[in-house]
Amino acid sequence: MPSFDDYFNFMQIKENFSLKKLNTFGIDVKAKYFAELNSLEEIKEIMQSSYVKEYPFLLLGGGSNILFTKDFEGIVLKINTKGKEITAVDEDFVYLKVQAGENWENFVDYCVMNNWSGIENLALIPGAVGTCPVQNIGAYGVEVKECIEKVEVLNIADGKITEMDNESCQFGYRNSIFKQQAKNKYIILSVSFKLAKKPVLITHYGDILKELEMMMLEPGLATISNAIKNIRRRKLPDPAVTGNAGSFFKNPLVSKEKYEELLKEFPKIRAFPSENNYKLAAGWLIEKSGWKGKSLGNAAVHHKQALVLINKGGATGSEILSLAKAVQHAVLNMFGVELEMEVNLV
Ligand code: EPU
Repeated sequence: MPSFDDYFNFMQIKENFSLKKLNTFGIDVKAKYFAELNSLEEIKEIMQSSYVKEYPFLLLGGGSNILFTKDFEGIVLKINTKGKEITAVDEDFVYLKVQAGENWENFVDYCVMNNWSGIENLALIPGAVGTCPVQNIGAYGVEVKECIEKVEVLNIADGKITEMDNESCQFGYRNSIFKQQAKNKYIILSVSFKLAKKPVLITHYGDILKELEMMMLEPGLATISNAIKNIRRRKLPDPAVTGNAGSFFKNPLVSKEKYEELLKEFPKIRAFPSENNYKLAAGWLIEKSGWKGKSLGNAAVHHKQALVLINKGGATGSEILSLAKAVQHAVLNMFGVELEMEVNLV
């Protein structure tokens, strides 16, 4: 047992802390210990403490991409650092350094309000700025990697603070070094963005233009952002009302040969060319497998978007996981395609 230090000047360590409000699935699990970190000093202090040295630890951002399947027998740390700073401006771009604990949705709105372009299509995605690089959040034809200049990290092993440029982050589709080799090695302290002063509008994806037409509005930063909010609100459940973590699975990549084989059997299959492969719409596969809108206990496949699993109320993480496995099994049986989870299992 660690000799629990009385030397914490700033933060409070809570015991047997419920994480229900800190994960968007609303799963009711407890952390043995929990602390909110409001400054770099607090982050450094806790990382040197016996809590972190003797127990497993888990960093939590917005809790919007995580599924807790059991109590966490260690310390959960919620990064809550705030601040946005313009670090440079040139003729075409504005450069901003944003602290990890800032809310993502608010940050997008702030950029749209200032007429800085790049992330307006990523409106209404729940989460924190510090976790947006981890899975390289994406929606409506944009991935956040396109606007990330660098990520400031604290190396857990030696306490050193360094910056990783865009290339070092090894961004991919819902992927980065922070989900791979660098997993649990760093704490993301801040993210630096490069945003265009002259808007570059991306309207080709899905129903954006149709939505703008319905709203009788011309494409612009704010109008696109609002159109996307409308589409998302219609299709995706609001985590404040219905527990969920957005897309539960990634859209699977298959070879051209596999795609052509599937196309023969399923002429309506939805797919998009992606590098030399094809990205299949997992929502379509799940729908065709018969699981859309179906429940298993208190967990269900959302009736409007089959890629989203929901907590109907009181679901345990294991119930959601059982449903996810049933869906994976059905899709594998029908199409011979494996669905990979996008959400982190804890
Ligand atoms: N589709 C179905 N049935 C469904 C759902 C989708 O047939 O139940 C079909 C749609 O008709 C469409 C295609 O699948 O032809 C793609 O659907 P959609 O545009 O809704 O996007 P998605 O591929 O299902 C991805 C992201 C979402 C993002 C949307 C919009 C992933 C894993 N998901 O979903 O991201 O909002 O595109 O860009 O890439 C998230 O990651 O949490 C997330 C919500």
